[in-house]
Amino acid sequence: MVEAFAVQVRGAGQGAHPTPRPAHGRGRATVDDVGARHVPRHPGENVERGLQRDDDRVALALRSLSLSRTTSRLAELLLPPDDAACNLRSVEQRQTAAGTSAHSRSREGSHCMSHDCIDHPTVLRSRYLNLLESALTGSLIRDPSMDPWGEKKYDPHMRTLGRDWPSFAQTMIGNTRLRSLRHMCETVLIDNIPGDMIETGVWRGGGCIMMKGVLAAYGDERRKIFVADSFCGLPKPDAESYMADAGDTHHTFKQLAISCDEVKQNFRNYGLLDENVVFLEGWFKDTLPVAPIKKLAILRLDGDMYESTIQALDALYHKVSAGGFVIVDDYQLKPCAQAVHDFRDTHAITSPILPIDGMGSWWRV
Ligand SMILES: C[S@@+](CC[C@H](N)C(=O)[O-])C[C@H]1O[C@@H](n2cnc3c(N)ncnc32)[C@H](O)[C@@H]1O
Repeated sequence: MVEAFAVQVRGAGQGAHPTPRPAHGRGRATVDDVGARHVPRHPGENVERGLQRDDDRVALALRSLSLSRTTSRLAELLLPPDDAACNLRSVEQRQTAAGTSAHSRSREGSHCMSHDCIDHPTVLRSRYLNLLESALTGSLIRDPSMDPWGEKKYDPHMRTLGRDWPSFAQTMIGNTRLRSLRHMCETVLIDNIPGDMIETGVWRGGGCIMMKGVLAAYGDERRKIFVADSFCGLPKPDAESYMADAGDTHHTFKQLAISCDEVKQNFRNYGLLDENVVFLEGWFKDTLPVAPIKKLAILRLDGDMYESTIQALDALYHKVSAGGFVIVDDYQLKPCAQAVHDFRDTHAITSPILPIDGMGSWWRV
């Protein structure tokens, strides 16, 4: 454990925040060049590049998505509730200026089609997904952290950037990565990219619950969500096969071992468990190569280690549709980044890798 606390998050402001962090998914040696950010530790702290406001977070998540035209339009409509109202008003003003009736009714239904009207489907969908994000990250209840290195309290900045482990909430990836996952799922639906969605490494299931929530919000009953995990934590490092994992201590963290039953119950609690949520229980090396997956629109990797990352890429990358997204939650961790680069070099993949929040990155196939 002493050794485990040896390296600190580079993006957390070297020198400024000397608190040592354990060698787990959110705090080990980092890649230098991926846009690491200064993480404000105190709410009042004046930080130049810190993400202090919702607008900053959303703007970053959206910028990082290189949004298609349709999605930019969608993104306009998906700002958090407070911003949404004023943003939607400006959309309506433009519509009115263009001669569109502000209160036209849809032909099929009785929804008011004015964008600032509370029962407009887009507003309701946006509010549902905002609330889902807030609940899944624990921001809603100011869920305190329970990780071994931090103070046992709720720090909105840490939660925004997914740098702590919530005590009760269903995801540790934080608001920014969860918001960007949501937008990628929405982009897939709007751009009609074929395929299912998978997360390899789910912990309490929050990332997968968000993907399923997006499908539910858009009425997609066809796509499957694959939920892949050992459901008993990370493997011991196999340094003979994967040198980059030598000394890895993830397997020692019991907090990372969440049972399949608990994850299923979490889906149930959100009313999102059905036959299209498919659980792949076991080590990735055993489950992923034989998983009943034809095509993927979203491949989200969150297994922290070299082994877990390369095994998922080897088994699944060729199933990702053109236009689909590959998301690497732990790109800031050196072993994970190395696996990504080894894989991309072997397969001559050149699509640019884009940062999300100083920890996660992604590219589009
Ligand atoms: C950091 S957690 C994932 C966090 C999660 N995505 C979230 O939204 O909070 C890593 C997860 O990956 C799983 N895992 C890592 N390597 C694995 C492997 N080789 N096979 C199966 N599960 C693995 C662990 O059991 C753990 O649940």
